Amino acid sequence: MKEPSPPLKIGPIDRRIALSQQIYDRLRHAIDAHLLRPGARLASARALASELGVARGTVESAYQRLAGEGYVLARGPAGTIVSPHLAQQPARQPAKATANARLPVDPGAMAASPEPPLPLQLGIPALDAFPRKLWSRLATRRIRASSPPELSYGDPRGYLPLRQAIAAYLLVSRGVPCRPEQVLVTGGYRASLALIVQTLLRQRDRVWVENPCYPPTRTLLERAGAIPCAVPVDDEGLVSAEGVREAPKARLAVVTPSHQAPLGVSMSMPRRLQLLDWASRHEAWIVEDDYDGEFHYHGPPLPALKSRDTTDRVIYAGSFSKVLFPGLSLGYLVLPEGLTEQFSASVQIWPNYVARVTQAIVADFIDNGHFSRHLKKMRALYANRRALLAAALTDAFGARVTIDLARGGMHLVARFAGRASDETLARRAQRAGLSCQALSPRYLGEAKQEGLLMGFTNVATAQEAARLAAALRDALAVGNVSA
Ligand SMILES: Cc1ncc(COP(=O)(O)O)c(C=O)c1O
Repeated sequence: MKEPSPPLKIGPIDRRIALSQQIYDRLRHAIDAHLLRPGARLASARALASELGVARGTVESAYQRLAGEGYVLARGPAGTIVSPHLAQQPARQPAKATANARLPVDPGAMAASPEPPLPLQLGIPALDAFPRKLWSRLATRRIRASSPPELSYGDPRGYLPLRQAIAAYLLVSRGVPCRPEQVLVTGGYRASLALIVQTLLRQRDRVWVENPCYPPTRTLLERAGAIPCAVPVDDEGLVSAEGVREAPKARLAVVTPSHQAPLGVSMSMPRRLQLLDWASRHEAWIVEDDYDGEFHYHGPPLPALKSRDTTDRVIYAGSFSKVLFPGLSLGYLVLPEGLTEQFSASVQIWPNYVARVTQAIVADFIDNGHFSRHLKKMRALYANRRALLAAALTDAFGARVTIDLARGGMHLVARFAGRASDETLARRAQRAGLSCQALSPRYLGEAKQEGLLMGFTNVATAQEAARLAAALRDALAVGNVSA
């Protein structure tokens, strides 16, 4: 079992135990657990004494004892720091948990990606190609220019210039006409979906989800007390007719029309129209999860479903995790006009918690034209990286592999000949440090396709692609792929 983490900040003091001993114990614990890192500066004895309501001499005596044992260094007026020599000691962590954390065997664990990302990991944009210098310039400028009002609470719907920039971008690039008032800034797709569920659903409401689907969607809905109804996906996308047959009165449908997650197919126009028609006839809502719609490599991109939403039933959910980077934790919703008031009330209770300065940096990034330049660059880069990985897999596996290259997206699906299940193959790959995910666990019920999902966006060169494909061949073989 994992040990509970000690508090980093020293909390209230228990007056029954010697005060100096308690302060000493807590600081030692924090240093041992690497919560206070080598080189970190401790609060001054005066400040800590005032925070804890004890005499300054009490804190000083704990500091002196720590210094005597080599845990801290007193540097006179420069303060007291954690001894830099402690850097050699490993952090106290249960070894088993660390080893397991790098093996995301459960598809639900996809949401918590390992750090740093593993080779072939899904859903991570090309981190080497992000314009970090430019970003830090924009960030520095924004932070320097922060005025007192900007340090206050902001609008819980999001920073207006960002909402304006998103509205302009969506109109031009995704064909979605909307007003900034319809845009709500959120902490990413899951935060968006949680807000939708809290605002629109009642317990046991039925929701169409794609089969197969993005596991966090189903899990979040289940946890919130909704009933997900699995609607099959074929090579034209969601088969709405099946949804109508199974759950005509569902209140919501969550779909990924641009590139179905995980199969990668784009929803055909007739299917889009059927889905919109169902929603308007049953007064249901559609959540369009457009997580990577910008990355399209063959033919013109299909416009967003929201752009055809003549009866205003589509809630468009965008995320900056793929188009910028996931560490931003930034997404947004475009609401139908009829829902803006209800959601504005909702965010008074569940605000988005995204730092205003982050929102301002992203607004500058979009307004100054960097965003569209970055997307254009990434589209070309990903098309190339995808081709590199596909070619390397074909070289390594020959006729034993079939690769689905959808019209867009950030991953491919590779299907291997042989008797081993995709879950077995995924486990073998993961043991070798490759983050391939099995396709079949993303289905509910029978009628499963099998295959391995692999992210290609961080495969930088032909050599790296060849090295990864060879490592995968060795990992899957374990004697023989068909074993
Ligand atoms: C289908 C799907 N939707 C949305 C997202 C984005 O989620 P978030 O904004 O929480 O990073 C992802 C990320 O992998 C995804 O695969």
